[in-house]
Amino acid sequence: ILNNENFNLAQGDITDAFSVSRILKEYVHVDEIYNLAAQSHVAVSFKQPALTWDITGKGCLNILQSMIDLDMLSVRFYQASSSEMYGKNFDTRDSLLSNVERYQDEETKFLPQSPYAIAKCAAHYMTRLVREGYGMHASAGILFNHEGPRRGETFVTRKITKWIGEYCKWKQKGIRLTPGVHDIDFTPNPDLIYRVAHDEVKTFPKLRLGNLEAYRDWGYAGDYVEAMWMMLQQESPDDYVICTGKTHTIREFLGVAFSHVGIKDWSNCVVQDPEFYRPAEVDYLRGCNDKAVDKLGWTPKHSFEELVRMMVDHDVKKHRNDNI
Ligand code: GDD
Repeated sequence: ILNNENFNLAQGDITDAFSVSRILKEYVHVDEIYNLAAQSHVAVSFKQPALTWDITGKGCLNILQSMIDLDMLSVRFYQASSSEMYGKNFDTRDSLLSNVERYQDEETKFLPQSPYAIAKCAAHYMTRLVREGYGMHASAGILFNHEGPRRGETFVTRKITKWIGEYCKWKQKGIRLTPGVHDIDFTPNPDLIYRVAHDEVKTFPKLRLGNLEAYRDWGYAGDYVEAMWMMLQQESPDDYVICTGKTHTIREFLGVAFSHVGIKDWSNCVVQDPEFYRPAEVDYLRGCNDKAVDKLGWTPKHSFEELVRMMVDHDVKKHRNDNI
């Protein structure tokens, strides 16, 4: 994208209202503004709540207030809202045990469970306010988890596929796998995977994860970006849930990812580590995309299994090519 002659990178800081307004002043005649700026890691938001608030919450305010002050009321605006805003709206047990299928949609109440989600709620309400108060074409997409090969490496999906890529590379190194470690004179560390060839012992750290029971409605990021654009092409602004309508646990993600590289039982590869548990968890996310399908004509094009395999394939190939 940097080589595209129509692409301009302007330097600024979303948390600094002067900086935002200075940049917007140069671009008052643009057609559309998309705000995807965030400290977007939920776990990090518990450790850096004020920073998260400034970027994820106040950042949106800085853009919208600058647009109002600069009389940019006819410029269309997109806010990246999040399914995290639903928080503990559904209890997993309720959702699974009740006979009725349960989904979150545009009418579902927000019960945010993290500083990140609270900041996203503030930005969401600010977007609604400028739409209703100033008549701006401001829309919010309530996006459920969206993933792909470009996903940051500390989010659970990519953390898993990256580990698999590195592990496959390590396994390739021409060392014969010896089942069991009985004939070696050392105490195995349960955090490591061992491989033995002749007298040589090789180790690889296991994948350390937190809660494996949370449910997420995971879709492909490329599909979701298309939905963002579609929202701003509508005659009237509105809020839309963007999701697949299907939900899976992290455990299920692990199952599909590991079996794609021929590992049926992944339990020996993963360690559950309290460090990766959050002070408050969002147990169950499953969206209803009826409104986006009906009004935007949008549908997700990639299934959960396709998404997982795409990410695993990318990381296996990446690490095969890297000389690690
Ligand atoms: N990151 C991470 N790391 N999550 C883990 C781990 C781990 O080692 N182990 C288990 N999990 C669980 C988390 O507790 C959570 O229940 C789930 O995996 C997903 O975590 P993330 O991948 O970090 O995503 P998220 O659901 O918290 O938030 C993402 O989706 C939101 C949309 O609902 C982010 O992209 C947010 O920015 C986005 O708004």
